[in-house]
Amino acid sequence: MTEPVLDVHLTPEDAAHALRADVRAGLTANPKWVSPKWFYDATGSALFEDITRLPEYYPTRAEREVLADRAGEIAAATGAHSLVELGSGSSEKTRLLLSALREQGTLRQFVPQDVSVSALTEAAHAIMADYPGLRVHGVVGDFTQHLALLPGESPRLVAFLGGTIGNLIPEEREKFLRTVRDVLEPGEWLLLGTDLVKDEETLVRAYDDAQGVTAEFNRNVLKVLNREVGGDFDVNAFEHVALWNAECEWIEMRLRAKRAMTVTLAGLGLTVEFKEGEELRTEVSAKFREDGVRRELEDGGFSLHGWWTDAEKRFAVSLARAV
Ligand code: SAH
Ligand code: TRP
Repeated sequence: MTEPVLDVHLTPEDAAHALRADVRAGLTANPKWVSPKWFYDATGSALFEDITRLPEYYPTRAEREVLADRAGEIAAATGAHSLVELGSGSSEKTRLLLSALREQGTLRQFVPQDVSVSALTEAAHAIMADYPGLRVHGVVGDFTQHLALLPGESPRLVAFLGGTIGNLIPEEREKFLRTVRDVLEPGEWLLLGTDLVKDEETLVRAYDDAQGVTAEFNRNVLKVLNREVGGDFDVNAFEHVALWNAECEWIEMRLRAKRAMTVTLAGLGLTVEFKEGEELRTEVSAKFREDGVRRELEDGGFSLHGWWTDAEKRFAVSLARAV
């Protein structure tokens, strides 16, 4: 088997530089925050895969159900020659799209993009092994920065699955959608997965599971900081918090200091004080409604071509066309 092509737009040095700038800004702010991009080292990516298999974490199963039902329709509507996937992770559900496009005979190229080198390399190899003849061109990059550098033969279908768009705040989403629109030609396609607003208990459980896998995933970001910027966070002195913000309609993930502490980040020459109970904000996961998704897509320069949900209406997949 030949090796997949891998473009690196975010070298380990770039990533280290960006991480340092982010950590300095976030840990000296009030309230303190750290960017979710840094969750996904090899351990974080593996923990996320464990999350997708938890009984409480319904989004992956619900999205897979929609893709299984609609992949044929999506392939027929788009006639895509290349499938570009942003924040691709393991690309497991994406196989439903690849198979439908291949059966139809239009698929030539798959372009997964992710910040996680480990997840991307593993997925690229697995897909190449299972789809002989498919050109796999992986891109290590940041989907908020490196979209213009994505290869792909027209007509392209850009997939952004897993509800990852909900990890961006509204202003970031607006900029993201405009940028995707700008790199596409009119008539090309965006397939977007969005988790939907539902009862608070179901939502909170999906982000605070009984086995504590999500808590471990959240705390893993502190291990990344310890390793990458010489931090001395006592990881177990932080507890995982997931709460529903009804006004913003998003889940907020935080890490709460169980006691007062001083943390030193030797690589940054920075010392940070935490009060007992103080919270470090790590991630939001916005939940959507059909009207809002339609409006955001239209504002970004897309028209909504298809809107599909799982039978329980927990998760939606939208197919949009660049105007
Ligand atoms: N699409 C997969 C994975 C979702 S988890 C699924 O649906 O299951 C989110 C993925 O986005 C992770 O693989 C993470 O490494 C990646 N990611 C997070 N922030 C990113 C960024 N700024 N640019 C590129 N990839 C990013
Ligand atoms: N895109 C996923 C989501 O919002 C990412 C995710 C799942 C996540 N569980 C998490 C991020 C826990 C941080 C903490 O559903």
